[in-house]
This record gives sequence, structure tokens and C-alpha cells, in this order.
Amino acid sequence: MATPQNPRPLAGLTRPQGLDTNTDIGGMADPDNGLIDRRIFSDEEIYRQEMRRIFARSWLFIAHEDQFQKPGDFFQTYMGEDPVIASMNKKREIRVLLNNCRHRGARVCRADHGRTKNFTCTYHGWTYDLDGELVNLPGKDDYDPSFNPSDWGLVTAPRVESYKGLIFANWDENAEPLEDALGDLTWYLDAFLDRDPEGTCVVGGVTKWVLEGNWKLAAEQFATDWYHVNMSHASALMVMSPSGKGPKKAIAERTGKQFTSDSGHGAGFPVHPKNRFDAQPVHEYYDYEFLRDRLSPEQVTGPMTNGHGNVFPNFSYLPVNGSIRVWHPKGPNKIEVWAWTVLDKSMPEDVKKAQRLYNLRTFGPSGIFEQDDGENWSEVQANAHAFMIQGTALNYQMGMGTEKHNAGFPGTTSELYSDAAGRGFYRRWKELMNTPAWHEN
Ligand code: FES
Ligand SMILES: [Fe+2]
Repeated sequence: MATPQNPRPLAGLTRPQGLDTNTDIGGMADPDNGLIDRRIFSDEEIYRQEMRRIFARSWLFIAHEDQFQKPGDFFQTYMGEDPVIASMNKKREIRVLLNNCRHRGARVCRADHGRTKNFTCTYHGWTYDLDGELVNLPGKDDYDPSFNPSDWGLVTAPRVESYKGLIFANWDENAEPLEDALGDLTWYLDAFLDRDPEGTCVVGGVTKWVLEGNWKLAAEQFATDWYHVNMSHASALMVMSPSGKGPKKAIAERTGKQFTSDSGHGAGFPVHPKNRFDAQPVHEYYDYEFLRDRLSPEQVTGPMTNGHGNVFPNFSYLPVNGSIRVWHPKGPNKIEVWAWTVLDKSMPEDVKKAQRLYNLRTFGPSGIFEQDDGENWSEVQANAHAFMIQGTALNYQMGMGTEKHNAGFPGTTSELYSDAAGRGFYRRWKELMNTPAWHEN
């Protein structure tokens, strides 16, 4: 398997300086004072720099392991805007291949997912195996004898690693290991992914939809924003409350914690002994005593039964709904949301069904919460290009200075109602935007 040392094989080509000009972000993001210049959500050049300096070197979510059962299983997705194929090779390893024929650049796979022996480009017929090696091409004898097919395999992500069923890939071969990059967030993620000794599975395929909005609006909200819940989701909470009058005061005023990290990840969750799964069959299924033992009491009363989280840059999750999603950037003004339902493998079928339907009802494309969120992001984005608006700072000052280590919660946390993880998100964003990436050497 020829894993390219340099995932950008330009063969013998060279480029002039200055084609990809990077901008010093300077004071456009000032997380220490909770201020953001809203131009970072709409500027085309900044967006292109994000592709080079954030997406080309961060761990990006690819798929769930459950999507690959046999060699030849593949799934097509994106890393940033680059189309990639994740395939299981004959050794049952997952390869992540740039979906770009080395001949003239057509995609070599157009199916969303499936099982295959190899990928044949429909333009001239170059054929690649599950590891991305060029194994056949029509008219090979018409090339010079010095033509070596092994030089013309698909570009392959040099790093592919999993954390508790979630597969991530990175174009930077020297990136720190995925688990180190997740850091203290693993404790919060485990409350979602490690309830069941058998692990998790995905059901119902991948739901995809398009929203008008910059990718950061969605990612930062899932990292930091419990604040919007009572206002933006008031009608949804009303529908879901037994009285129909909206959330009880005790629920609306819940206290909890928000996790923030130097790596840009974030998570927030109310902490309450009566936190529970909203779908009744799911609530009844869990043995909370067993879970307090398997995880910890703090995980069970906090991030297991409620809240939100984001793995920097663009992978988000909702433990109580079983939702995982990627915010695929499609230019500065648009995202394509890809969402999966993740369930514990040991759940009986009726419990799985209840949780899947609950997830779709709340956070599917027409879910009662999801629609509120999408509406907010497109509202924020709609005027982002206007001149006076671009000269007006955004406020991320809630809970400023309250970040500290709180006993029982790994890493740095603030109170639930806070912009702490938003400030952490933009601190990391700024650091990466201002630092040359591996491919600039
Ligand atoms: S572009 Fe793929 S074979 Fe020509
Ligand atoms: Fe929301």
C-alpha cells in the first residue's frame, strides 16, 4: 500500500508564490475580550484560508465504523470541500481516498455508498483498487515504458483513526493522535459513546440538507450555546411539555457546566439528578445504577442525559437525541448538514425505533428544534455582506473569566450559560489561521 508521503503529488510541477495568499487575522477575532468581527463569516478569502489552514490539518469526521461491514464497503463524503471515499480494504482497514481521478480529475466514485471491488473512472476508464492504487488503465501500451502506474494512485489521507466507533481522517501525516487531539473532551464524549459495552451502531442512513449560513455559526453553537434554548426553542419546548405551557421554571433555569478547550472543542449540559432520556422507552431501557458504575455519577447526571458538543472544527453531537452531524462547508455562506442517528448496539429493536424517531422528530431536517436553529443561522447570514453591519462587532462576553477547573469535570469548565467554549473555538480558529500548515513548508 503506497501511502503517499506528501498527499499533494504535483509530480514535477511548481507553483508561483502568492497564489494562495494568507491574511493575518489580527484583531478580527479577539477571544480574550469576547469580540468577533462578523466579516469572518462571509469573506471569500478568509474562507479559502480556512480550507488551507484549518480543514487541511484538523481531524475531520468521516463516518461511523458500523458503516463498514465487509471489505469493499465504501462511503463517499467530504473533508472540507474535497470529496473523499472511505473504503474498507482487504485487510479490513479503512482508507480515505481523494475522490479525484489522477488522469483528468473526474470523480472515480459517484455512488453515496455501497460495496465494490474497485473504483473505475467513467471518463477514460482508469481503475483504482480499495487502497487507491491504479490497477488498470485502457491503452496502457500507448504510454511510454517509463510510465509507472504506482506513481498515479489516488491521493490518500495519511492518517485515519477512530475513537469509540467514530472514524476521523487528517491530511497532516504529523498530526497528533486523534485521542490526544480530543483531549479532555473524551470524558464528555464517552457519556454518549460508551454507555454500552457492545458500543454503538448507526441506523436510518445519512440525512442530508442544505442551510444558508457559515459553517462556524453551527459549529460554535454546538460548542457553546445553551443560551438560545429557552428563547429560540420556546415553542418546541411548549409542544414537548406535558402541560403544553412551556418548560417548567425548574427546567428553564437549569444549571450545568460548559466545557472549553485549547483545541477548540466545546460541550454544554445541564447537571441535574432528574435528567433523563426524553423518549420514554429509552428512559426505561437504561439501568442508571449500572451506568453510574460504568461511567461516573457526574457523567450520568450531566453529559449522558442532556446537552450538546462540538469536535473542532465541524463535527457536532447531541447525546440525548443520538444525533451526530457534520457541517460540510460549501462556500462562506452555505453548509450541507449530514446527520446520522447513533444508538447503543444492545438496545432492543423497539427502543432503537423509539430513539430514532425521537431524533428525527427533534433534530431531523424537519425536526422541531432543528428548524429553529437553521432559521437563526440563515437570519444571521442574510445581512452578513452589508457594509455597516460588517463594521459592527459581535459579542461573546457571557461568563467571561469564569473558566476554571471544576471538581468532577475534566479540563476547563464554566457555568452552563456562557460563551466560554465560543471563545475557545475562536482562539483555536485564530491560532490555526495565523500559523503556516504542513503543506506550506
Ligand atoms: S479522468 Fe479519469 S480516466 Fe480520464
Ligand atoms: Fe438549538
